[in-house]
Amino acid sequence: MSVHTQSTRMTTAKIRQMKANGEKITMLTSYDFTLASLVDEAGVDMILVGDSASNVVCGNQYTLPITVDEMIFLTKGVVRAAQHALVVCDMPFGSYQISEEDGVRNAIRIMKESGCDAVKIEGGESDVVATIRHLIQAGVPVCGHLGLTPQSVNQFGGYGLRAKDEAEAEKLLHDAKLLDEAGCFAIVLEKIPAELAKRVTESVSCPTIGIGAGSATDGQVLVLHDMLGLNQGFKPKFLRHFAHLADEVKNAVGAYNTAVKESSFPSVEESY
Ligand code: KIV
Repeated sequence: MSVHTQSTRMTTAKIRQMKANGEKITMLTSYDFTLASLVDEAGVDMILVGDSASNVVCGNQYTLPITVDEMIFLTKGVVRAAQHALVVCDMPFGSYQISEEDGVRNAIRIMKESGCDAVKIEGGESDVVATIRHLIQAGVPVCGHLGLTPQSVNQFGGYGLRAKDEAEAEKLLHDAKLLDEAGCFAIVLEKIPAELAKRVTESVSCPTIGIGAGSATDGQVLVLHDMLGLNQGFKPKFLRHFAHLADEVKNAVGAYNTAVKESSFPSVEESY
């Protein structure tokens, strides 16, 4: 049972206040009710229903195929679980790039149908910032996302470190300031040099949430399945395995398989 009551629910205002108080902010992904309940009960501040669900849940190579309908379906379960954490839903590829009007329509649909508290949008180009400004005016809280933006993988040609050179670093800093001015309540900084993440964090009023961006950001985010060690074979430098659940799951499933095959499960005590 959750230790949190309705009054302890996170809000975007509280997330902003945490930066002002110098309190670190935690965010983890979840894509379903059961794991989101555990993440929420453990006290994480924000749950991101990331479009990484395209990889983790659906087995796609990229985040690009996941749709608005699929994101809404997953987010509904997470929202039902979250008693404390702020739930942020990723706007998937194609849901905000066509036009400002289309982006606003999709974001409002995601908020209304999933019940999430905020959306996350990748990029800092002028048309993306214009859509974000419009969304915030319409009452939709937005989390920005700069650096490695996986929806642009085909443009980048891979998932390497971003903003290594001065020109890209300056552009990222500029984009972060635009997102901050537009009213983003937070900005995810993915896979950029730690020193640049520190500069951005000191230059914007909203909290920065890092993944592969060093320790100076206001908070950290990881993909839950990665940090639990469920996703074997994925171990970039920035990722820490806080558990090794792939082994636990395989051992448990193996034990079940053996028990059924040798007729030791179910036992008399486990039968009616
Ligand atoms: O989709 C996702 O999980 C993300 C995080 C990696 C920040 O965007």
